[in-house]
Amino acid sequence: MSLRIIVVLAVLTGVTGSPGVMIRPEADPADMTAHPNSVPETVEDSEIYRQEVPVEEEAEEDVMATGELKPNHYQAQRAAKVVQHYLNTHYGSPFRLFGLHKVNSGNAEDVADSGRKYQLEISVQEIISNTTENCSAEVLFPRGEQQRSPKVQASCEELLKINSTAQEEALFQKYKTNQRLLSAQNLPDSYGHIEPDSEPLWHLGIVASSFVMLNESSENTLYNMAQVANITQLATENELLKFDCHILLHEMVSQEIVHWKLLFTWSPPEGVKVLQMEQLPHCQHHEKPPNTN
Ligand SMILES: *[C@@H]1O[C@H](CO)[C@@H](O)[C@H](O)[C@H]1NC(C)=O
Ligand SMILES: *[C@@H]1O[C@H](CO)[C@@H](O)[C@H](O)[C@H]1NC(C)=O
Ligand SMILES: *[C@@H]1O[C@H](CO)[C@@H](O)[C@H](O)[C@H]1NC(C)=O
Ligand SMILES: *[C@@H]1O[C@H](CO)[C@@H](O)[C@H](O)[C@H]1NC(C)=O
Ligand SMILES: *[C@@H]1O[C@H](CO)[C@@H](O)[C@H](O)[C@H]1NC(C)=O
Repeated sequence: MSLRIIVVLAVLTGVTGSPGVMIRPEADPADMTAHPNSVPETVEDSEIYRQEVPVEEEAEEDVMATGELKPNHYQAQRAAKVVQHYLNTHYGSPFRLFGLHKVNSGNAEDVADSGRKYQLEISVQEIISNTTENCSAEVLFPRGEQQRSPKVQASCEELLKINSTAQEEALFQKYKTNQRLLSAQNLPDSYGHIEPDSEPLWHLGIVASSFVMLNESSENTLYNMAQVANITQLATENELLKFDCHILLHEMVSQEIVHWKLLFTWSPPEGVKVLQMEQLPHCQHHEKPPNTN
């Protein structure tokens, strides 16, 4: 079964003044527009999802295959998505963002005592320069009582040659010397729009989110970034910029939107480093669709 998800970021005006998030499987788009404050936005429309490929998700599953995998099958896709998060955590910046473009081939095997290992040939895209490269990657999902994050190896040499140092330095200096500390909300907003000035903050939020998504991923998850609800620059004494942010992640398997609060730093030489991550409890009324008047 193919699961196409529609994310509706609806502004619940008069209720809380903050955006509510509702997700649902694809339905007749006509009834999504019934509410004047709800704007349907297909996941594929927003920038970071442009490279998404349709994933064959299955409602009844959980018998994990071993051996050669179908490239579009959920198993290969989930493992490959972890590689995207890994690349972002290691090499991501406001001017360097990685996305999974395509799985070319995949193989899974049980590794005695330690877990399951995926060997993948994937096509990875650097979204800002629109450069695509075939990469080999290996993802090990550890087995055990408590969930541990997957171990990843990937070689994407061409993509790592993309040199965005000059742009990063310029942005860093701009942010460092601003009169006022930066902040932004709702990236993207309910119309899928981001002000050009806020794009670097959105990109930083995506990279920081990849730390959570990498750490939380298992063979049974598929995480996507949904929104930076808000991001605030904090004052710092040293050669780092520091940000506090609240992010919304879309877990495609459970179809849940999960909220996390992150504290992270960024500088061009050190990249993004997450200092704290905390999952926030669900905010009940945010999950409900808006009432139709
Ligand atoms: C990215 O590059 C591909 C081919 O290399 C091209 O078809 C596509 O239109 C480009 N996308 C953007 C957004 O420029
Ligand atoms: C990537 O690999 C696929 C499948 O092996 C191949 O068809 C494609 O031409 C390769 N692309 C590049 C840029 O090497
Ligand atoms: C990653 O997740 C594990 C639990 O799965 C948790 O114990 C660990 O603290 C997390 N790492 C960070 C940096 O929060
Ligand atoms: C990247 O570009 C900067 C100048 O913009 C240069 O100083 C630096 O050596 C380059 N780095 C690499 C790895 O090529
Ligand atoms: C950030 O957004 C979340 C979710 O909408 C909200 O609960 C929180 O109060 C916001 N924080 C700030 C500082 O605006």
